[in-house]
Amino acid sequence: MRVLGIETTCDETAAAVVQLPSGGCGEILSNEVMSQIAEHAAFGGVVPEIAARAHVDTLDRVIERALARAQLELQDLDGIAAAAGPGLIGGIMVGLTAAKALALASRKPFVAINHLEAHALTARLTDEVGFPYLLLLVSGGHTQLVAVRRVGSYLRLGSTLDDAAGEAFDKVGKMLGLPYPGGPHVEKRAADGNVARFDLPRPMLGRPTPDFSFSGLKTAVRLEVERLGTLTPADVADVCAAFQAAAVDAIIDRCRAGLRLFRETVGQPNAVVAAGGVAANGTLRRTLVRFCAEAGLRLITPPVNLCTDNGAMIAWAGIERLSLGLVDDMTFAARPRWPLDANTEAVHHGKA
Ligand code: KG4
Ligand code: ZN
Repeated sequence: MRVLGIETTCDETAAAVVQLPSGGCGEILSNEVMSQIAEHAAFGGVVPEIAARAHVDTLDRVIERALARAQLELQDLDGIAAAAGPGLIGGIMVGLTAAKALALASRKPFVAINHLEAHALTARLTDEVGFPYLLLLVSGGHTQLVAVRRVGSYLRLGSTLDDAAGEAFDKVGKMLGLPYPGGPHVEKRAADGNVARFDLPRPMLGRPTPDFSFSGLKTAVRLEVERLGTLTPADVADVCAAFQAAAVDAIIDRCRAGLRLFRETVGQPNAVVAAGGVAANGTLRRTLVRFCAEAGLRLITPPVNLCTDNGAMIAWAGIERLSLGLVDDMTFAARPRWPLDANTEAVHHGKA
């Protein structure tokens, strides 16, 4: 089975072709990503109108390149999948319309994909892992712990009460005058910093419900930055190191609470899976390795380019759904809000 996946929910225009040989993991035949970071950098964040226009300008070429790299024609595909949400409506409509048009023209099945579900299932593209597993989803827009029970069945154990983890990294980056998006730059500067110079809070530490919060930590960083006034490169490095350490400590503590709740409500997980842009962070990855070793669990961290937004994860989610006979029709509309567990009750009352 071969599926084309299209991703346009945020600031990456992406298309990929993934193949499922005969069971097991997927094989990525192409994975084209055109980032709009440069277009949004001047504004310090993603501007929806600019994003939508950039998707219109580049999507055709990105799809063409994905097919060419895979050395395939539309006719060779078994389906066309597009992220239908959640995200910025203008961009979603661009990708969704393109996918529907290609599916109609080539008489192939069309699959509408939840972007979060695609992040959740990426581990099965790269590694053989059975359900259920504990998913830590940490991206620019989402921060959640989810019990992935099977395709289409997700139980949200906890989520952020304020900022997403990536958002917190980006805001700290902005305070320090680092380029947008701040996450990778904060990590880079933190490498030369002294983690112990600032004593920053670990939000929600020890709370039994696995929710996240980053606003208190962000405010603590802001106060330190204001106190310092003019920042030397060493100050920037120390703030980055202290913030990263606090954020990672907080995330791991929340994973501990999430694992406990998983065992109480679902049973024993087969693995812990980290997904989303922040899962590219080396310190978080190393700390997760220790956490999983102590818990006696397998850890799956997909390669960095599959942790951030990409087309391959959409194509793979398409394969997972098509394999179960799940297809969508042309009336499927873009969903700017689309919780992963839309059809399932959250375990407790966290915010979406
Ligand atoms: O999943 P993603 O590509 O896009 C969505 O938000 O859906 O995640 C992007 C986020 C940004 O906030 C970015 O700063 C953050 O992931 N990020 C990182 C790192 N790489 C990307 N945060 C911390 N450390 C990194 N190395
Ligand atoms: Zn994402």
